[in-house]
Amino acid sequence: MLNDIESVLITKEELEARVAEMGRMITEDFRDKDPIFVGVLKGCFIFMADLMRHVDIKCTMDFMAVSSYSGTSSTGAVKITKDLSEDIEGRHVIIVEDILDSGVTLSYLKQYLMVRRPASISIATLMDKPARRKADVYADYSCFEVPDAFVVGYGLDYDEHYRSLPYIGILKPEVYS
Ligand code: IMP
Ligand code: MG
Repeated sequence: MLNDIESVLITKEELEARVAEMGRMITEDFRDKDPIFVGVLKGCFIFMADLMRHVDIKCTMDFMAVSSYSGTSSTGAVKITKDLSEDIEGRHVIIVEDILDSGVTLSYLKQYLMVRRPASISIATLMDKPARRKADVYADYSCFEVPDAFVVGYGLDYDEHYRSLPYIGILKPEVYS
């Protein structure tokens, strides 16, 4: 285990099992709907890659990038740094996010995309941290509910590091200071 990690919160095996389960649920719910999966970069990249291999229906994928964070606390302001390249009018949109924390990012994104008149917008998140919710937004699909701790790995970063860890870990407090 990497020296900066205090403990493993979610193991590789637990991730594999739950992500596969979510893929099967989405497969059932969106059969014949040709949904468009919209990954929120960069945090979604490993989760989405694994999830999509368990989604056994006709669909398309696109990506957006937003920034709202520096370090471990949200700045509160959301900025779109990469927009969609596909048209979503009339489409069933499934936003794929790494973690739903304050909810500020996703509620902004949902409103931002709603203007383009999609048929529906759903949220599929790897993790949900309900203790810190500020915005009125919930996940339609969530693999894990997590406690109020800063987590890294499986795509998630602390100042751009630790994304490549195959598990979700909690950082040692001294790493922040
Ligand atoms: P929200 O707008 O507060 O819901 O923030 C969502 C974004 O903040 C996520 O997509 C992550 O990129 C980042 N984030 C929130 N909590 C964590 C965490 O515990 N570890 C790493 N990134 C996090
Ligand atoms: Mg993110």
